Amino acid sequence: MIDFNLKDKVAIVTGGGSGIGRSAALRLGAAGAKIVVADLNQTNAEETCVMLKEQRVQSVPYTLDVARAAEVEAMVAYAVKTFGRLDCAVNNAGIQGEIVPTVDCSEENWDRITSTNLKGVFLCLKYELRQMLKQESGAIVNIASNFGLVGSAHMPAYSAAKHGVVGLTKTAALEVAQRGIRVNAVCPGPTLTPLSQNAIDLDPSIPDAIMTRLPIARWGTAEEVAEAITWLCSDAARLLVGAIVPVDGGYVAQ
Ligand SMILES: NC(=O)c1ccc[n+]([C@@H]2O[C@H](COP(=O)([O-])OP(=O)(O)OC[C@H]3O[C@@H](n4cnc5c(N)ncnc54)[C@H](O)[C@@H]3O)[C@@H](O)[C@H]2O)c1
Repeated sequence: MIDFNLKDKVAIVTGGGSGIGRSAALRLGAAGAKIVVADLNQTNAEETCVMLKEQRVQSVPYTLDVARAAEVEAMVAYAVKTFGRLDCAVNNAGIQGEIVPTVDCSEENWDRITSTNLKGVFLCLKYELRQMLKQESGAIVNIASNFGLVGSAHMPAYSAAKHGVVGLTKTAALEVAQRGIRVNAVCPGPTLTPLSQNAIDLDPSIPDAIMTRLPIARWGTAEEVAEAITWLCSDAARLLVGAIVPVDGGYVAQ
């Protein structure tokens, strides 16, 4: 395992109770960071903290909805109150929503997906950056998607939200580049997690359809995505500013 050395750093991981977020929390912890595991699902956040404790990593669970400003502001305040500062943030919480063509996408589905996947990332950035600007240091990794770089038929709100995360990442990165803070994004491709498993359960034809379009011809793992996230959080990626990094087995290379 590469030593990214995040010793004594403090990290928030939203959506840390499952999938990519849980793997990111475990990997950042293995690199030495203390972790705030933030999630809508309290039980799952606590479960990740138990796993971190087994690795002798200090962590605390935090329950919130990333689409609510007051809760996001309180999460950052809690991280600072608990561990004294905020060095890294992984804005990962996300949902898939309904898979329907644009003509059938309800207003409710649109609002639900964009609230969590786009407004949630904006709110996290806003309050994390306020703290990091006080410190004049920090690294933020937003989790977008391969569908933030190319369209995805039948996922209008998801794809629009993820394209939004890409734009937000570049914009925030420009604003704070000279203040010791880096903002970057990872764009995972098909990755086996509870989210993708749920999609497969709804439509069992998905794996075959994806494999015909995926150069690497296999699913990614949450651990592989977490590796890229940890690298971007570390000083090893100190020249990366506003970078949008596909971690997708070649999906957007074609
Ligand atoms: N799995 C994939 O194939 C894939 C591909 C590209 C991008 N992504 C993105 O990666 C991120 C993580 O996805 P995953 O596959 O690990 O999903 P997951 O469902 O396994 O985990 C997502 C976590 O986010 C939490 N969450 C959802 N809404 C929340 C909210 N409003 N506030 C706080 N927490 C909330 C959930 O409780 C869950 O623990 C998402 O942003 C997703 O869009 C996933």
